[in-house]
Amino acid sequence: MCANLSQHWDSSYSTGDRSRSWYQGHADISVRLVKTAEPDLDAGIIDAGGGASTFVDDLLAAGYRDISVLDVSPNGIDIARTRLGDVGSRVTWIVEDLLAWNPVRRYNVWHDRAVLKVGANRIVMPGDSFKIP
Ligand SMILES: C[S@@+](CC[C@H](N)C(=O)[O-])C[C@H]1O[C@@H](n2cnc3c(N)ncnc32)[C@H](O)[C@@H]1O
Repeated sequence: MCANLSQHWDSSYSTGDRSRSWYQGHADISVRLVKTAEPDLDAGIIDAGGGASTFVDDLLAAGYRDISVLDVSPNGIDIARTRLGDVGSRVTWIVEDLLAWNPVRRYNVWHDRAVLKVGANRIVMPGDSFKIP
């Protein structure tokens, strides 16, 4: 993992998540997209670059059971995990650089908001292809 990248994002989370420009109390658009694209609550969903996002909270509340959150920032992940408390043990937390990561399983839905292209809400389904910048 690139230490500079990790440090950069860790420092951006050092004052918590709510002061971040990308903070949202609920990830309504993303959850709506997932529910439409993948109604199966056992589907494997990964939030790539999820950081401290509340998307995972909303997915759990919607009943999804196989959720992974990947981020290069341990601080970002810690904020989400701490916020969720015991419920957080139902989530697979992955601290990795997305661009160097080798997944050990397949996912039904890949979600990326403001990571590979800042500002975008995107989901990728099996068989879709996209270009990593
Ligand atoms: C603008 S924030 C968006 C966070 C989250 N997706 C949301 O909607 O609240 C970008 C996130 O991408 C993570 N990130 C940036 N580059 C990354 C990389 N190469 N691998 C994994 N995570 C990365 C950052 O740590 C940060 O949490």
